[in-house]
Amino acid sequence: MMNKIAEATAYIKKQINGEPVAGVVLGSGLGNFAHEIKVEKEIKYEDIPHFPVSTVEGHSGKLLYGELSGKKIVAMAGRFHYYEGYHPHDVVFPIRVMKYLGIKNLFLSNAAGGTNPAFKVGDLMIINDHISFFTPNPLIGKNEKELGTRFPDMTEPYSHSLIAKAKAIAAAANIDVKEGVYVSVTGPTFETKAEYRFVNTMGADAVGMSTVQETIAAVHMGLPVFAVSVITDLGLREENNIITHEEVLQAAKEAEPKLAHIFKEMIAQL
Ligand code: HPA
Repeated sequence: MMNKIAEATAYIKKQINGEPVAGVVLGSGLGNFAHEIKVEKEIKYEDIPHFPVSTVEGHSGKLLYGELSGKKIVAMAGRFHYYEGYHPHDVVFPIRVMKYLGIKNLFLSNAAGGTNPAFKVGDLMIINDHISFFTPNPLIGKNEKELGTRFPDMTEPYSHSLIAKAKAIAAAANIDVKEGVYVSVTGPTFETKAEYRFVNTMGADAVGMSTVQETIAAVHMGLPVFAVSVITDLGLREENNIITHEEVLQAAKEAEPKLAHIFKEMIAQL
């Protein structure tokens, strides 16, 4: 595994000038954010040694290197999901590579179903904690000491100081942000009504099919994480209307400018 990380990192480093200070993962329907980046280099996942290849609609599958808010960043336009059939080690592989590229902070975004009754479609939820029980932990297997300890602490998976900065930025821009707990599920099915109720009962405010494995891999390496969910549908809705992937992408797209503002300002302050 360490050799694979080293090879992928070396391949990317050869093609870029400088070192990224932050890594950004763009979730479903949030790819427009990429246009905010002054892209210097675009690398297709399929060209990077040992990188898995993204298949899901709405994920274009490339690594972008460039400038945002005057800082060098690397962004993943498209991520790898467990439901696509990837091993959790593959899901988190790019996160490990970004760490070895030099990033000091990781910014994650996703589309999620809201189960907190106070949420509405289009809300941003800053993730302040997660529940990982329903998706396999990406650290299962031999521990690579160079990456981190066998039994990582998880009392603060999402950096309190980054959350405080985000809240200040949102308040200054009059952007309403919610805060809450994200639970990861495997997907690809959306939840049944009983499952959405259970998500709410277990103490989670939103549910989605990504992010948690990436966060765990980052925390394992001592990399501070900031993550935001865009609430694209409501699990506890009254009507019997169904949820579609298209509806999720559309809601994410509409909420994206708010997310982009927060990420851009946070990166400016790094
Ligand atoms: N459930 C799980 N994942 C999701 C949802 C949802 O309701 N919306 C967007 N991603």
